[in-house]
Amino acid sequence: MPSVLIFGGSGKIAKFITASLVKQDYKVYSVIRREDHVPELRELGATPIIQSLEDSTVAELTATIKSSTPDVVIFAAGAGLRAFEDPNLSILVDRDAAIRVFDAIAEANCTKRLITISTIDTRNRDKLSPTWYNEEDQKGSDELWGMLPTYMKAKFEADKDLVEQNSRRGLEYTIIRPTWYGDGEPTGKVKAGLAGISPKVSRKDVADVFVACIENPATVGCVFEVSGGEVPIKEAVQRVAEEKVDSFGEIYR
Ligand SMILES: NC(=O)c1ccc[n+]([C@@H]2O[C@H](COP(=O)([O-])OP(=O)(O)OC[C@H]3O[C@@H](n4cnc5c(N)ncnc54)[C@H](OP(=O)(O)O)[C@@H]3O)[C@@H](O)[C@H]2O)c1
Repeated sequence: MPSVLIFGGSGKIAKFITASLVKQDYKVYSVIRREDHVPELRELGATPIIQSLEDSTVAELTATIKSSTPDVVIFAAGAGLRAFEDPNLSILVDRDAAIRVFDAIAEANCTKRLITISTIDTRNRDKLSPTWYNEEDQKGSDELWGMLPTYMKAKFEADKDLVEQNSRRGLEYTIIRPTWYGDGEPTGKVKAGLAGISPKVSRKDVADVFVACIENPATVGCVFEVSGGEVPIKEAVQRVAEEKVDSFGEIYR
């Protein structure tokens, strides 16, 4: 039975991913921060592991990975709303904990495969804007960085670390960068690749992009955006894999 370990397993995206994987007979380990999430995750069919990422060392995270020996690791944690009150949490969770997880995967040496959630427009804004951005995307970018500067920078620095330190770690990573999403009805279709900031996408559709990447090893090395669109998810992910999309080349970091 293939197995997946999800850091941030109690998150909304993570729970959708868990439900899909359990249905397909995957074993799912969910690393969660709070005990009160245990019953819900058990009901979904996952095996919960209580561990706060912001309070764990690389050695402790390595031990968690070694104890579950997953085929694939997913990083789906994020400080989320807690960071509105305390932006420093973005640095602790979205950047520092993510980087420790990257190190722990390399250290544990059970699997090299990592699929991680980033966010749209994660880039060095002192450099040129992405060539595929239209006027609306530019406005969206100003809005995002104006509203959530610490979060955007934390995500950028985590992605930069993952990409630039990979000669040392040797991970088989895929970085998924969704635009704003909400709990709207899923359509089973997205725009994936150099997709731009609008339109919004449904959370469940983003979760299904993760599942499609788990099932498509040719997405290793891809860094791609996801927004609302018209291409069936598996096909959209297959195109990303064939085109080896990298929306985070050196000119953007
Ligand atoms: N919303 C958007 O439009 C959007 C767009 C692009 C990317 N994203 C990114 O996608 C991520 C996942 O989205 P989502 O909707 O699933 O968010 P979510 O429901 O807030 O999930 C984030 C999960 O991370 C967990 N977490 C936070 N700190 C942790 C820690 N120290 N140790 C272990 N787990 C911890 C949270 O657990 P607790 O509940 O216990 O805190 C929560 O379960 C977001 O955090 C964000 O970075 C979001």
